[in-house]
Amino acid sequence: ARADALPRDMVGKRVVVSAGGTREPLDPVRYLGNRSSGKQGYALARVAAQRGAQVTLVSAHTVALPEPAGVDIVNVGTALELRDAMHKAAAEADIVVMAAAVADFRPVSKAEHKIKKSDRDPDPVLLTRNPDVLAELVASRAEGNLDAYIVGFAAETGDDQGDVLTHGRAKLARKGCDLLVVNAVGEGRAFEVEDNAGWLLAADGSERPIGLGSKAQMAAGIWDFVMKSSTSRTA
Ligand code: CTP
Ligand code: CA
Repeated sequence: ARADALPRDMVGKRVVVSAGGTREPLDPVRYLGNRSSGKQGYALARVAAQRGAQVTLVSAHTVALPEPAGVDIVNVGTALELRDAMHKAAAEADIVVMAAAVADFRPVSKAEHKIKKSDRDPDPVLLTRNPDVLAELVASRAEGNLDAYIVGFAAETGDDQGDVLTHGRAKLARKGCDLLVVNAVGEGRAFEVEDNAGWLLAADGSERPIGLGSKAQMAAGIWDFVMKSSTSRTA
């Protein structure tokens, strides 16, 4: 679709989107990272800007992606940097979307100098838990520090404990956000590829499947759903 054919239904909305994968340093040259491309978060930011929103994109590491036109970009490296940037930006936002792949754990400490191979076996890497930024944003809203509609993402595979939808519903309840976008992953889907499929699970119990389509189409579907639900939350 041509950009000028898009609805301008997000004029006046202040939107914050996180994207990409955090990198947690081990030493000055090494990190623990993940395979997030950042494409879904960038697509969300681009489509929101095209629909008239004022967009801040908090970007962790991504593959090479064009900067979406008319979007303020805040670059971050680690989960802790992403957390700071999100709390700052969310205070002024109407809608916050956590599309970033935030590392659950980080090395306990970063070596000051490059770790050398030496002549003995390596030390194990000790990890500690990162804050859950999405859960913190929900808690911060409950304390009155922000008033945004809050969207989380989850990439799930089915396992012995349940299918993708079961895991998604449990995660929505655990996180306390208003909407969880659940991607069905596995069989080479979602990570590093162009297309997604899954469900939109809302805190009010409404559920909508999202078909296989481009990340831009998925972004449009997410914004359609958010624009409907966020107006009813504040109304
Ligand atoms: N998230 C976050 N901070 C973290 C980890 C995740 O804000 N430290 C956010 C992600 O951006 C995403 C949502 O939480 O919007 C779900 O992330 P996910 O990794 O699926 O959930 P976890 O609670 O970390 O559970 P697990 O990895 O064990 O499935
Ligand atoms: Ca996680």
